[in-house]
Amino acid sequence: MLDIQKVRADFPILNQKVNGRPLVYFDNAATSQKPQVVIDAISKYYSEINSNIHRGVHALSQLATDAYEASRQKIQKHLNARYAHEVLFTAGTTHGINLVANGFTKFVKEGDEVMVSAIEHHSNIVPWQMLCERTGAKLVVIPMNDNGELVMEEFNKLLTDKTRIVAVNHISNALGTINPIKYIIDKAHTVGAAVLIDGAQAAPHLRPDMQALDCDFYTFSGHKACGPTGSGVLYGKEEWLNKLPPYQGGGEMIKDVSFEKTTYADLPHKFEAGTPNIAGGIVLGIAIDYLDSVGFDNIIAYEQELLDYGTEQLLKIEGLRIIGTAEHKTSVISFMIEGLHPYDVGAILDKMGIAVRTGNHCTQPIMQYFGIPGTIRASFAFYNTKEEIDALVAGLNKAKMMLA
Ligand code: ALA
Repeated sequence: MLDIQKVRADFPILNQKVNGRPLVYFDNAATSQKPQVVIDAISKYYSEINSNIHRGVHALSQLATDAYEASRQKIQKHLNARYAHEVLFTAGTTHGINLVANGFTKFVKEGDEVMVSAIEHHSNIVPWQMLCERTGAKLVVIPMNDNGELVMEEFNKLLTDKTRIVAVNHISNALGTINPIKYIIDKAHTVGAAVLIDGAQAAPHLRPDMQALDCDFYTFSGHKACGPTGSGVLYGKEEWLNKLPPYQGGGEMIKDVSFEKTTYADLPHKFEAGTPNIAGGIVLGIAIDYLDSVGFDNIIAYEQELLDYGTEQLLKIEGLRIIGTAEHKTSVISFMIEGLHPYDVGAILDKMGIAVRTGNHCTQPIMQYFGIPGTIRASFAFYNTKEEIDALVAGLNKAKMMLA
């Protein structure tokens, strides 16, 4: 069980007022708030061991390198990856997906197919479209139903021996749908296709197991999981990372350089050119420790309570329609209120200190499917409360009156 007041005390930002009202932060799917241990760890890194890694013989460089590599090992354990060198540090999910999509230029040719789903974030659509433009491959899309669930019968039909890679999210940022990724991974492997999972929305809510899932790539951002912005992870199976060409060339990703020929460094360094976000990588490990200390079982159970309560209370508002009613959902509620523009509602909520996201959530194809300009999205984290949901409902009723 979570001691919610104790958890909230870990997040200094939650104590403040916005527009004169206590902050109600319901934009967690965009970025999570940071606990004091994470904020302190950033300051400690720069105060005590700031130095470049893998380069210096001096003491600080060694300390920073050790901390960076220890964080990699921590993340390996967290993800239950087979090897630490299967964990690449990135700038975030978008970086991870682009790294793989670029590398797949080597494995995709004209006539091949690249599969995404109807409920992807733009970051898991556009890099694959760019791959198709480079290679002449065709982009194939797993359709969704009116609940915002992927239609598995259609997926089964679309998957063929032409499919080279399937890229789907674990959880939809706009709808909260939890996708049946284990089924997708196993099925894709039967035709020899690789699978990339966009775990950006999953990492704050659950603990994915790389060996149990058997996915080829899994990528997430640190900033949505209580870590710093500009940090992230791409997990890749060793065999795939060995085959995949480097994404960026530069220092530290090489073994030997001459004007005639350059050879590349071993994993993971082959994919980590240049000075990385050292503090980000180290502190992401601290954020994961923090989430583990709260406990993913506790997080899952409590967020389910928030989702159930939020859904029930919001549906009491006349004219409110939830977009995304999948059977398996995480604590994201996207909705519309009849006759009101999401932006206007969001602006009024902001005046009451309530932070939500409005718009298309970087998922224009979902909005096109439902024929709407966008939604109001309330996304809950384990530090939110039912009282805050009550404040949202009161705020929405007031917005309705003001905009009527
Ligand atoms: N992908 C983030 C969101 O859904 C930014 O808000």
